Amino acid sequence: MFDQSIFTTQSNSLYAIPKTAPSPSKIAKRSPSGKEIFICPEESNFYSQCLDTFVLQNCLEDEAVIEFGSGDGLPVIHALLRTEFLGCIHGYELNSSACKIANSKIAEYGLGERYLVHNTCFFTSSKPAARYLVSNPPYLPAVDDDIYLPLLRGGSDGSTITRKLLSLGYDNVMSLVSSYSNPVDTIDYAIEQGYSVAKFLVTPLEFGYYSSEPKVKNTIDKLRDQKKAFYSGNIYLLAGVLFQKRSLAAANLSDELIQIMTSL
Ligand SMILES: C[S@@+](CC[C@H](N)C(=O)[O-])C[C@H]1O[C@@H](n2cnc3c(N)ncnc32)[C@H](O)[C@@H]1O
Repeated sequence: MFDQSIFTTQSNSLYAIPKTAPSPSKIAKRSPSGKEIFICPEESNFYSQCLDTFVLQNCLEDEAVIEFGSGDGLPVIHALLRTEFLGCIHGYELNSSACKIANSKIAEYGLGERYLVHNTCFFTSSKPAARYLVSNPPYLPAVDDDIYLPLLRGGSDGSTITRKLLSLGYDNVMSLVSSYSNPVDTIDYAIEQGYSVAKFLVTPLEFGYYSSEPKVKNTIDKLRDQKKAFYSGNIYLLAGVLFQKRSLAAANLSDELIQIMTSL
């Protein structure tokens, strides 16, 4: 997570995004501080790609999609600018700074009818009915919330929020899953909840600002001893996974996904 190179004088202006003909690489200028809101362009772009491929291309035109943890909104904005999807994504974001930035970007791109970001806790908000729940969830493992960005903590093994999302009964859950956040038990939990792994994409990422924080990294090292974290040197794997209720899925690739996520 997190690319230090974004801390350049160039990226210090909030989102210097051109209004016409944006391409994802051009609009990936983000906020000045990763200590205030989540910033990791590589990870967010991967999430955006998974969202596009696994969800938006398969949705009905006027469908609602629910998002946990919108952050600054750029992954969804990028995906909406690329696809034909004409429905509405309802995002929930607890961090008010991130939410403010997301809403200003949404307005700038005239996407106000296709992406709504609410500054509330996902779990306590009322939400419209939807077939798809999407998220790049908080997945940092740490013993407590006293880390750079407490809202990125996914419990003691990193998988707590992901499991909660998998327990809500959505037909389809598209979530990122990290190889250092107890991937095997997370996938097994999804199976227990009646899901199949319908599709996935995997990318290698370098440990970054958030995951290299000593308190977090020490927890990851301990999880590795318990075979709950898998990485090699400074590299871990991040999967974008479409979990689909068993009756809807054409295939179950859970064994293949586990094999890959435990390979480092
Ligand atoms: C890993 S970040 C992903 C942000 C964005 N989707 C992206 O990929 O760039 C996870 C986000 O979840 C938000 N979050 C954490 N707990 C939340 C909750 N209970 N309700 C809503 N958002 C929450 C965090 O503030 C953070 O912005």
